[in-house]
Amino acid sequence: MPGLRTVVVVVAGAAVLVRRALRRRIRVSPLWPLPALAEPTSGRPRSRALRVRLTARETVAEGVVRLRLEGRGLPDWAPGAHVDLVLPSGLVRQYSLCGDPGDPTSYTVAARLVADGRGGSREVHEELVVGAELEVRGPRNRFPLVSGAPAYLFVAGGIGITPLLPMVRALPAGTEWRLLYCGRSRASMPFLAEALALGADRVTVAAGDEAGRADLDALAAGVAPGTEVYCCGPEELMAAVAERLPGVRVERFAPRASAGEGAAFEVELRRSGRTVQVPDGTSALTAIRAALPDTLYSCEQGFCGTCRQRVLEGEVDHRDELLGDAERGDSMLICVSRARGERLVLDL
Ligand code: FES
Repeated sequence: MPGLRTVVVVVAGAAVLVRRALRRRIRVSPLWPLPALAEPTSGRPRSRALRVRLTARETVAEGVVRLRLEGRGLPDWAPGAHVDLVLPSGLVRQYSLCGDPGDPTSYTVAARLVADGRGGSREVHEELVVGAELEVRGPRNRFPLVSGAPAYLFVAGGIGITPLLPMVRALPAGTEWRLLYCGRSRASMPFLAEALALGADRVTVAAGDEAGRADLDALAAGVAPGTEVYCCGPEELMAAVAERLPGVRVERFAPRASAGEGAAFEVELRRSGRTVQVPDGTSALTAIRAALPDTLYSCEQGFCGTCRQRVLEGEVDHRDELLGDAERGDSMLICVSRARGERLVLDL
């Protein structure tokens, strides 16, 4: 018989899970587990760093390159996992692993060129050459494949195929699965041939230049109860799928809300004795870095947790997909989150 203390702990834990599930109708998988709050004098967040060498790069679709990164004794990973790739410039970008999980000598990732992005994909496409030595952190998995479901539906948009392909490959023989693969055109869709090779009769290709948008209503109508649904791709696609299939598991590559949008507020940086103004159109991170240039950050999208800071006073408008209820009680990700009121005080 469990003791009273055990029962209380179990009930409290369940309550937290239910609250979190209610708060997030969609099961979002941010890219990284949360780093510990940085010590006041510490440098980088704690994270496992691996040295790898780029041994092959190949264009696999319009604007998409596949990279093979080799290293010694690389940690295991499971379908859905990502690595954090530290580029020579210091920019850090997250990429799904899409190679063979059983290969301890290499990781394979694919990167789409975002011409109007923040520079990471341009650096990968234009400057990374075979032989380059890079740092990789991870791998980590917040988008795991749930085993034992009666059926699976995967919905990919463009580069969003990368975490889903290893999932399909990992399903036991005889598993019921389908894949809807959407893209602008077949030429822009990476790993299309590989996806079709896994079961052409189970894969629906929705190339925008051939038949327009996929019929998601028809797709949702055909989903049997108990089916596990996974979606990765552009925000609009994930939102459209979530509207029709609320239990979908999604993985985001871009922030849901703009960090700069919202009312102006003031941030007191208590340990530094500074106060900064955060106007509408500017993130707290940007404003704080103007005063404290060494403030740590990485993704600027609310995914990695590098910019997490302890909140001493004030109410936070949390806009990240990473922090859980407990972390939100006393901290915030300053790259995307803002103040609910006129003022915050940070332990910075
Ligand atoms: Fe990555 Fe803020 S969460 S920099």
